[in-house]
Order: sequence, then C-alpha cells, then structure tokens
Amino acid sequence: MTNPLHTILQQMPKAELHMHVEGSLEPEMIFALARRNDVTLSYASVAALRAAYDFKDLQSFLDVYYAGASVLLQEADFFDMTWAYLLRAQADNVVHAEIFFDPQTHLERGVDMATAIGGIDRALRRGQAELGISSGLILCFLRHLSEDDALATLELALPHREKFIGVGLDSSESGHPPEKFARVFARAGALGLHRVAHAGEEGPPAYIETALDVLQVERIDHGVRCTEDAALTARLAREQVALTVCPLSNVKLRVFDAMAGHNMLQLLEAGILATVNSDDPAYFGGYINANFEALFDALPLQRRHAYQLARNGFTAAFLPPALKQAYIDRLDAFFLAHATPVGEFG
Ligand code: ADE
Ligand code: ZN
Repeated sequence: MTNPLHTILQQMPKAELHMHVEGSLEPEMIFALARRNDVTLSYASVAALRAAYDFKDLQSFLDVYYAGASVLLQEADFFDMTWAYLLRAQADNVVHAEIFFDPQTHLERGVDMATAIGGIDRALRRGQAELGISSGLILCFLRHLSEDDALATLELALPHREKFIGVGLDSSESGHPPEKFARVFARAGALGLHRVAHAGEEGPPAYIETALDVLQVERIDHGVRCTEDAALTARLAREQVALTVCPLSNVKLRVFDAMAGHNMLQLLEAGILATVNSDDPAYFGGYINANFEALFDALPLQRRHAYQLARNGFTAAFLPPALKQAYIDRLDAFFLAHATPVGEFG
C-alpha cells in the first residue's frame, strides 16, 4: 500500500540545500554532452554507465562521478545541466535551492572559472525568472587536494563574487579533516561568504566538531555520524546547527545498511535541525521527493515530521529573514489547506 503521506511529501513547498549540480547529470545527458564535445567515455552505453552505479563507499562513487563530469566543457554544458536540475526540482515543488559545484574538477581539465560559473549562474537566474525558484551557488573545495589549491581556486572565483554565496568542502572525507582547510575558510569568512562543510558522512564525529570550531561553518553537510557522540548531538541541538541529510545517498554509499536503519528520527527527536536533500540525485536513485518518500516509507515518520523537515529547510537556508518567513508562511498555508482527515493522527 502506498504511504498516504506521499501526496503531502510531494506537494509541500520545500528547499533543497545539499545538491552537487555535477551529481544531477543523468547518464543520458552525459552521453549527449560527450557526443556534443567529442569526449570519449570509458563506458560503452547509457546502460553500461548505469550498471557502474553500484557503490561500496564514498570513493567508489566519486571515481564514477568525476568521470561523468569530464563531459562538461562549454558554458552551454553547465547551463543545460543546471537547467535540467531546476526543471526536475520544480516538479518536486522545490521553491528554493542552494546548489554546490566543484570548480577544481573543471579547472584541472582546462575549463576556466568563468565558463563553469557563468553557465550555472545563467540557468539559476532563468530559474528565478521563469520558474520562481530562488537560489544560491556554493563553491566547494575538493578536500583530497591541497589547501594551497583551494586558496588559489578562491582567488580565481573572486572576479565572479556576485555569482556565489558561499564555500563548502567535499570529496574524499577520510584522512582529510576540516582543519586542513583552516586558512581558506578564514579567508572566505573575511570576504563575507557563507561557509559549510561535508563532515560526519564517512568521517568521524570529530570532523563535525572541527568543521564548527576551526572552519566556523554555519551548516554541516550530512553530519549523520554525530549520533555516535552524545555530547556532540546535544551541542548540535542546542546551537541549532543545521544538518543537510541525504537519505538515499547514505544508503547507496553504505553509511547505513538500509533505510530502515537511518537515524533521521533519532536526529529529529534529539531536537536537531535536520533537513532532507538529494546530494547527487542522478547517481543515488532519486531527487528530493524520492528521498522524502524512501525515508517516510522506511521509518515511523508522520505528518508532523514532514512539516518539521520542510520547515527546517527554510530555517537553515541562507536567505534574508523576511524571505525565509515568507516561505515558512507558504508552508504553513499548505499544511492548513491539507488538514489531517478526521480519525487520522500525525
Ligand atoms: N561530492 C559529490 N557528492 C559528494 C558526497 N556525498 N560526499 C562528498 N563529496 C561529494
Ligand atoms: Zn554532498
């Protein structure tokens, strides 16, 4: 039987705060762009590429993900990829999106900052104008590379300062603690940029602490391993640090063995500002609504949790207070209009 909450999950207005735009490249688009740009892929067909989406951990995913991104060469490629994501997000009733991109992945292939950021930004502006989706772009540093490389990347981005709102930290987590990037995050802070970091996805809870204390991040991407440390869990709740959780990613990358073992309910019951996001939707089996549905199908989550998770998304967004409140008012109106039927609890 389908979960009666699906309609609410699908239709409620929502924010997405953790989505790598290169991770929204569907296999069909990877092949289309490879043809357009004369790039040779090491996969014979869309089906062969899809068959490689059987990951045993974060690194085995990243290897395929970086291969997929190799087809992005021209400004139009970055535009088309971002526009396709926005259309898909609109279908899931995403009204605000803060999206990541990995400039170093492109710079090292000879694709300059203006090409990548220009194409993504043009799609985001069209998304605001034509789809009514507000957005922000976050430039992520690859933690498997050096801090000097990250510092140089930030300098290259500065001529495009008005096109991004913050910096993040992604790629291989284990062995690359947040504190490796102390100077570049300090520089980003001095420039008035928002700061986020992946931490506690595969890496230990200590990485969440140093992301907060050394990098001064405002949100933690993933952060699900915080529950291994009771004091840290209490701190995240007390300080209302948002976690941008990605349920399908967590299962695909074997952070949890199965969705039924996901700790989302534990996070919410601890009072943590947890949100639902899609991470790399083309690789992990679904966009944001599929993440909500998989979570609600596997765990004893109810209507009030759907409201809380959607509300947390707006609360945690890098938006001016008035706009944030306007989105929360819209969410409240949605839930009022979809009142709980008599006899149904939640
Ligand atoms: N880059 C893209 N997706 C990622 C993830 N889930 N963790 C770390 N780096 C990433
Ligand atoms: Zn991520």
